[in-house]
Amino acid sequence: MSGNWRILLIIGGGIAAYKSLLLVRELQQQGDAVRSILTGAGARFVTPLSLQALTGEKVYSDLFSLDDESEMGHIRLSREADLLIVAPATADLLARMRAGIADDLATTVLLATDKPVLVAPAMNVRMWEHPATVDNLATLRRRGIHVVGPDSGEMACGEYGPGRMAEPAAIAAGAAAMLGAAGQLAGCRALVTSGPTWEAIDPVRYIANRSSGRQGHAIAHALAAAGAETTLVSGPTRLADPPAVRVVHVETACEMLEACRTALPVDVAVCAAAVADWRVAQPAGNKLKKDGAGSLPGLELVENPDILATLSQPGPRRPGLVIGFAAETEQVIDHAADKLRRKGCDWILANDVSASQGVFGGADNTVHLVTADQAESWPRMAKAEVAERLVRRIADHRTG
Ligand code: CTP
Repeated sequence: MSGNWRILLIIGGGIAAYKSLLLVRELQQQGDAVRSILTGAGARFVTPLSLQALTGEKVYSDLFSLDDESEMGHIRLSREADLLIVAPATADLLARMRAGIADDLATTVLLATDKPVLVAPAMNVRMWEHPATVDNLATLRRRGIHVVGPDSGEMACGEYGPGRMAEPAAIAAGAAAMLGAAGQLAGCRALVTSGPTWEAIDPVRYIANRSSGRQGHAIAHALAAAGAETTLVSGPTRLADPPAVRVVHVETACEMLEACRTALPVDVAVCAAAVADWRVAQPAGNKLKKDGAGSLPGLELVENPDILATLSQPGPRRPGLVIGFAAETEQVIDHAADKLRRKGCDWILANDVSASQGVFGGADNTVHLVTADQAESWPRMAKAEVAERLVRRIADHRTG
């Protein structure tokens, strides 16, 4: 997405602050102008000089500086931005945002702004998992604050887990997605399903599959980046919610169908979820026990509703364009064309999920776009690229 947006970047005090210098570059590369606020703690990690050199702008940090206030008051800093990004958003900064504290320039601007805000949390894994932070994040999300990351991995403090600030490229992409309201799909409503479903056997066991949700999440992200008002109905995954997307988390196929129905009407629906075909007819209320005699529990299975086929049914609420996926291991295009007819959808992205292809859980995908009258094979590419290409095709289709 090309930018030309005005970004106000607020840099909190964390070791990840150095990555915010790279973020400035990423944003500039997508055409955005960046102005920055450095908190007192942030200034311990990066210098105002580096920021000033990179942004080509004065760096703001003091709420009570007569110079700063007369030159650029905190209200004007917000007014002259299209989007505020807080990166790194420390646990402390998030807590102060949630509480509405305004005791320095950064928090005052955040309290005074009516512009969209994107935060990129970064903190130690224990702080990230602390109920206070979990609660703060949930409240901020409810208020419409967008969140990108954090990523999981080894952290500066030597621990491992979620808490690393998202990569600058991901934050910049998140910003582009939020500002994508001017994109090709502005005014379009989109629904995406993603991830596996979990079908309970008893309170601790469930039937699942290897879907990572990567492809569906990438599609939701690309749709939002193109300006579509996007709802993602996601089964359990380890992925962060894509920015600028309304995410509904579900576990079972029945919950997924219900959430999809609630999201209607939409213009485009993309069913990328690997929905379990069957569920246990009567999940046990208590954990199943071995009976000691070696007999095995019989699991009676019933078929799950087919979400793609349900959304494709003719009627006033049918999305204008319904797109499914076909996970196949042989005769990929033929089986996909057959599936398209059976389920009544408009397009199918058929992918070869033989173990040798490494599609499930992997970063790449080889797909064929199958429509009622033709099939088109795309080269192997990253799932994010598949998503972008699909979104371009959707946009072309809509403009006719
Ligand atoms: N799908 C769905 N609801 C289901 C099953 C599948 O929405 N209960 C959707 C998937 O999201 C995907 C498409 O249907 O878009 C095809 O899924 P796939 O697993 O390939 O097809 P199946 O219907 O399971 O067919 P089969 O197992 O016979 O290949």
